[in-house]
Amino acid sequence: MQQHHPPSLPKVRKNPVSQIRFVRQIRGDMISVLSQWFATYGDIVHFQIGDDFHGYVLRHPDDAHAVTVTHAAKLHKTQNYKHPTRGLAYFLGNGLLVSDGEFWRRQRRLMQPAFHTQRIAAYGQTMVDYTRQVLDEWDGKRRLDVDHEMMRLTLMIVARTLFDTDASGDAMVVNEAMTIFQRMMNDVDIFPHWLPTPKHLRQRRALREIDAIIYGMIRERRAAQEDRGDLLSMLLMASDDDDTGMTDKQVRDEAVTLFIAGHETTANALNWTWYLLAQNPAVEAKLHAEIDATLKGQPPTLDDLKRLPYTEMVIKEAMRLYPPAWSFGRQTIAPIEVGGYRIPSGCNLSVITYAMHRDPRWWDDPDDFVPERFAPEHEANINKRAYLPFGGGPRICIGNSFAMMEAQLILATIAQRYRLCLPDGVTIEPEALVTLRPKNGLPMILQPRQQA
Ligand code: HEM
Repeated sequence: MQQHHPPSLPKVRKNPVSQIRFVRQIRGDMISVLSQWFATYGDIVHFQIGDDFHGYVLRHPDDAHAVTVTHAAKLHKTQNYKHPTRGLAYFLGNGLLVSDGEFWRRQRRLMQPAFHTQRIAAYGQTMVDYTRQVLDEWDGKRRLDVDHEMMRLTLMIVARTLFDTDASGDAMVVNEAMTIFQRMMNDVDIFPHWLPTPKHLRQRRALREIDAIIYGMIRERRAAQEDRGDLLSMLLMASDDDDTGMTDKQVRDEAVTLFIAGHETTANALNWTWYLLAQNPAVEAKLHAEIDATLKGQPPTLDDLKRLPYTEMVIKEAMRLYPPAWSFGRQTIAPIEVGGYRIPSGCNLSVITYAMHRDPRWWDDPDDFVPERFAPEHEANINKRAYLPFGGGPRICIGNSFAMMEAQLILATIAQRYRLCLPDGVTIEPEALVTLRPKNGLPMILQPRQQA
């Protein structure tokens, strides 16, 4: 029977002090706070800020399905992301991650071919080459911040595959600007955006720098009219049935979107994989055995991936325990029913993937790292709705094959040469910002492997 309201937290009053206190409380340790809410109130929890902000956090696979698939047409991306001067849209404009409706549909249709298996296959070699370059730089080193290294590596790969440039010049500037953007996303900013505070001025400068670089590249490419094989060329060449393509502004928005969406998530998938392998020597040994037997000391190629099933299972299981996109949000544009409750139009919903991925109702020994769950013979037993590292439905991650290919190639290339171990006494804590990342980096010890 449809009930009117799910369990609610006490209303947060709409004044700066109460709001900042609330946001600080949940941002300080979002994962624990949400776990507590679910444990106390159940699968859907409602919270309210002032009279007009209604939020709902969800963790049941059927409710996640209702959000991603059943009611997809009645949901838009979260308004919070789309605020013209704050949130993601400040940097991403109307890129795929934040656009909605017919506009989003057309952009998705135009961009989809850029992510077809054949097109991204060409990037496999780039991924391995850059990983090997980073490994050469590791020679003779004993301790590393693996988080920094994974970010650097996935940044180099996205710079090459997206813009066909290396990560030293322009891409580095874009990355610095993105770091400013990251901070902005995770800060509580009480000042109106038009006020020229030092932070706002830094953000504006970052935006100007990004735009100068990307519009510069677009101008050059349009003038040269060549297909450089990268994603930017694909965006510039994409056209609809009526032969209309994207405007420069739209290409810019999509390029920035892919740059942002395309490296930090994959870097964190790898971070957590290294962290879990270091604590699970039996899994690590099985991974090494597969890599050594399959690759026989040669660097991996795209063709090898299908012969590295355990490598893939390890990454899938790491993303279960630590989903880099630990939650995703929507706003209702019409009333919908979720979990037996009627949710009115104009409300914000967040699917908490992290909580769903560790729920003992769907996973045996949910906190254990067991890649075998994803073995072909066991995969049929998995509740598919309870595993959403890439989201689901029409808005499923457009880069999911790209990301899986990249993570597998990087993992195999590095694990072939090194073990990454956790130093004694170091504890790593997850921090749920835009992505789920190790809070203070990931210091690890490098141990060269004696290959079989
Ligand atoms: C392990 C790596 C990655 C993870 C875990 C991940 C996760 C996700 C998730 C959960 C969504 C859906 C968000 C929602 O429904 O609100 C998403 C969307 C998206 N991702 Fe990824 N992603 C990864 C890598 C990538 C890469 C490599 C690219 C591009 C090169 C990319 C580009 C995008 C874009 C453009 C969207 C928006 C799609 C749309 O709304 O139509 N992602 N990603």
